[in-house]
Amino acid sequence: MGNFEPVIVAFCCHYCAYTAADMAGSMRLSYPSNVKIVRVPCTGKVDIKHILQAFHKGADGVYVAGCLEGDCHFKNGNTKAARRVARAKKLLSEIGIEEERVEMITMSAGMGERFAQTATDITEKIRNMGPSPVKNIRVGQTQPA
Ligand code: FES
Repeated sequence: MGNFEPVIVAFCCHYCAYTAADMAGSMRLSYPSNVKIVRVPCTGKVDIKHILQAFHKGADGVYVAGCLEGDCHFKNGNTKAARRVARAKKLLSEIGIEEERVEMITMSAGMGERFAQTATDITEKIRNMGPSPVKNIRVGQTQPA
């Protein structure tokens, strides 16, 4: 796995994590280019199917980054997202894929450093885990080859 560079998909809430990513940029904090940001209006809009689809399309790790508890602009989108992430973890583990490949993170718009550190930590963790086994699953299979 010497040259393995993971693809990480980060579903980022427009009001917090996406703005924190901007903040990281303006603070000139670097984070790995492995992280591909998908901006969403609220993490409550991220469904399990989006998480699984990201793996199906080649992601090695996925995280959902929402507002801090009690700060969701749509009241409870982040708590809904946390429940869906927990469900996605369970589904992945049922088919033999490490549940640690999916995480729920919360932060505020001003947490540029937290955004950069999270992106770095998750990329490193997935790099150490190796490529997602989903890449080896063919249509009709239920287990990685
Ligand atoms: Fe940010 Fe809902 S508005 S998680």
